[in-house]
Amino acid sequence: MCGIVGIIGVEEAAPLLLEALRRLEYRGYDSAGIATLVEGRIERRRAAGKLDNLARELAAEPLRGTIGIGHTRWATHGRATRNNAHPHLSGGVAVVHNGIIENFQNLRAELEAAGRRFETDTDTEVVPHLVAQYLASGAEPVEAARRAVGRLEGAFALAMLVTGTQEFLLVARRGSPLAIGYGEGEMYVGSDALALAPLTTRIQYLEEGDFAILDREGARILDAEGRPVERPIIRTALSGAMIGKGNHRHFMEKEIFEQPSVLGDTLRAFADPGDHRISLPELPFALDAVPRLAAVACGTASYACLIAKYWFEGLAGLAVDWDIGSEFRYRAPVLQPGQAGIFVSQSGETADTLAALRYMKERGHPCLAIVNVPESSLAREADSILRTLAGPEIGVASTKAFTTQLATLACLAIGTARVRGRLTPEREAELTRALDEVPARVLQILQQQRLFREIAEELANARDVLYIGRGTSHAVAMEGALKLKEISYIHAEAYAAGELKHGPIALIDETVPVIVVAPRDALFEKTTGNLQEVAARGGRIILFSDAEGCGQLAPYCWRSVALPACDPFVSPILYTIPVQLLAYYTAVSKGTDVDQPRNLAKSVTVE
Ligand code: M6R
Repeated sequence: MCGIVGIIGVEEAAPLLLEALRRLEYRGYDSAGIATLVEGRIERRRAAGKLDNLARELAAEPLRGTIGIGHTRWATHGRATRNNAHPHLSGGVAVVHNGIIENFQNLRAELEAAGRRFETDTDTEVVPHLVAQYLASGAEPVEAARRAVGRLEGAFALAMLVTGTQEFLLVARRGSPLAIGYGEGEMYVGSDALALAPLTTRIQYLEEGDFAILDREGARILDAEGRPVERPIIRTALSGAMIGKGNHRHFMEKEIFEQPSVLGDTLRAFADPGDHRISLPELPFALDAVPRLAAVACGTASYACLIAKYWFEGLAGLAVDWDIGSEFRYRAPVLQPGQAGIFVSQSGETADTLAALRYMKERGHPCLAIVNVPESSLAREADSILRTLAGPEIGVASTKAFTTQLATLACLAIGTARVRGRLTPEREAELTRALDEVPARVLQILQQQRLFREIAEELANARDVLYIGRGTSHAVAMEGALKLKEISYIHAEAYAAGELKHGPIALIDETVPVIVVAPRDALFEKTTGNLQEVAARGGRIILFSDAEGCGQLAPYCWRSVALPACDPFVSPILYTIPVQLLAYYTAVSKGTDVDQPRNLAKSVTVE
């Protein structure tokens, strides 16, 4: 969740820290702060709200110094006020923190009993107090910081500044990611490589339990046992330019419109156009022998897993247990010997998805991650990965990451079905051809943007919206409802269309739009029946189907959008585009903060 950054260099640090925080704002944006060391003293500026507020503070009262730390917050403990904003300061120690310190109450009680006065409601504030306490008892800064970190429970990444004539940054990683960047006579640390992209391409990822001391010449890293260790320095392909909005008003819009291209890139990794056969890299389990899969993820990525369940079971006859990351490890899942796990994530840092992966790995099950950030914790901890080639996704609402996850899972399902003898070469060729056509079909849908904008203007007046669909379209409906909720703040729910009559149908009246996701697949007639039940009760139906489906159901619908006809296998990818566009234009029409919706953060690194 929160983003942290640190710089020890030759130029004024505050402007560089602010720039790096802009690139981390996707992780949290309810308050921000920067502290620098100036002539042996720590100075700081903090502000509630977006980073622009901090920028104004800094413009009014600039911070000097060539060493500093910065933070952009997603509140976990304590409201999003200036006072609770990081860096937290005590006894000449400033700390920025990402994660949760689970034993902070006990530590705080102990420190208060020892006479230390707390100023905030955060869990983080115990850290500078602890370090300051050890310093006061005579420990050297590195020793004091290491002893303090040793007392902390939970998941965290920390960066600290200590008052004094010696200049260094102290950083620690347990459970939350941290990347060190190497410059020329400058060193950096950040929550991810993206934050450091304009500063350097030479990146070193800290591992679990690592503690590091950064000066201008380099980094000295100690592992969890305090032994000096080397971690590889890699070249990242990320560049400063990669995260611009181009001509788009929002990152989300840009990312929606990038889908034809990133879907093409992702699909080409598994299927040569013209070859009509899927080729998969070596996986940590044998696709023809694996008895069962667990597919685990959070939020939007979990809907990709749900769609994959239909694909694997329907196409390959391979059973899939679909789970939400935050539930999986707490429900004592019964895992079959040899069962493999598939973990899907854009960021690769989602705490619950990572914890689920660790749960399966600890029990000896092979684990595959489908992930967009190849340097992420999930990617590094999985036995192997399939990469989605979506490129950096900055908008909090996941769009291109989701459809590229679907493209990857579709290829995996086809490859699985083939090796399990469930797919004739002819059917495999049909399916891969349908996948090949996806980017062009997505482009066709995007070209109808005017129509979605018009519908969205009406939808923006709704208080509640229902989404219905059957089979994979139920998962698309779930994704549509989530997208609308998170960026437009309109209450939306998704139901399996056949389930409506078991309760939710009581909600239907002429004020509740019902969005029906109805590709012409094997369940189309059934969905049609459910649509008519809604129409009979005065529901305002917005239909997504192909031209024939829309023509057939026109009398019952308030609005309908005809999508390109397609093989039902690829319909979840294509039918996701309209639900994204509708949510996006509805949010624009309502004037909400599309890229940074309230209360949310892009990367959820806390449980
Ligand atoms: O980075 P991940 O894919 O693991 O993130 C999972 C969810 O937090 C994410 O999909 C979230 O639901 C998005 N805000 C949805 O748009």
